[in-house]
Amino acid sequence: MNKTKRKSPSSDKKTKSLPRTRKIAPLETRRLLLRPLELADAEQIQMHFPHWEIVRYLRNIVPWPYPADGALRYVRDSALPAIERGEAWHWTLRLKTEPQQVIGFISLIKGKSENRGFWMGLPWQGRGLMSEACDAVTDYWFDVLKFPVLRVPKATENAASRRISEKQGMRVVGTEERDYVSGRLPGEIWEITAEEWRKRRRARH
Ligand SMILES: CC(C)(COP(=O)(O)OP(=O)(O)OC[C@H]1O[C@@H](n2cnc3c(N)ncnc32)[C@H](O)[C@@H]1OP(=O)(O)O)[C@@H](O)C(=O)NCCC(=O)NCCS
Repeated sequence: MNKTKRKSPSSDKKTKSLPRTRKIAPLETRRLLLRPLELADAEQIQMHFPHWEIVRYLRNIVPWPYPADGALRYVRDSALPAIERGEAWHWTLRLKTEPQQVIGFISLIKGKSENRGFWMGLPWQGRGLMSEACDAVTDYWFDVLKFPVLRVPKATENAASRRISEKQGMRVVGTEERDYVSGRLPGEIWEITAEEWRKRRRARH
């Protein structure tokens, strides 16, 4: 007897009408899991993101005061559609020891001048965790997505963020004023090329 299952025309139709989900790889570092963003993450993002210390140096497209449905709207209407269009890659950060808890967020974004963004929940800052996450997604940017250069603007006052770029071997290639949640501030554009990143990685291993 022929056991090959044939799809009925109606099941073909169903499959075709489903939205195509672009795959982002889950990543991991020594202490972290980087899990591709899902709609269900909005609830925990809403708990840890809306703090002045986190938003003040983000671009003023972040609404402030942050609305009660801010994370849901961001994840559902902006971040997930950008993933689907192949224009952005977003991960939530979790400790391997507590994988259900979202502790931060990191993004890669296609485009000329703003290719990475991140925030870490206040209780988890200052432990070197974002530095680990940045190394993992920077590898992804160059090795998997194959972009030739990574550029990130940041407020000059944002010492922790600048320090991460500095530790990664990035260099300042320009300065510009920008509108942040805390107002118009001087900023810097940091950059590293694929070749520089690989050379640095070889030297460290
Ligand atoms: C930027 C941010 C993600 C850093 O997260 P984190 O997990 O605390 O970062 P790490 O611990 O990996 O590294 C931070 C580095 O900055 C240093 N740093 C932190 N605050 C600093 C300060 N005020 N002055 C100087 N250096 C500072 C830390 O000592 C560390 O450097 P080190 O490894 O040489 O000691 C976190 O502060 C944050 O969420 N900020 C708000 C959101 C934001 O500004 N995002 C970036 C927008 S460009």
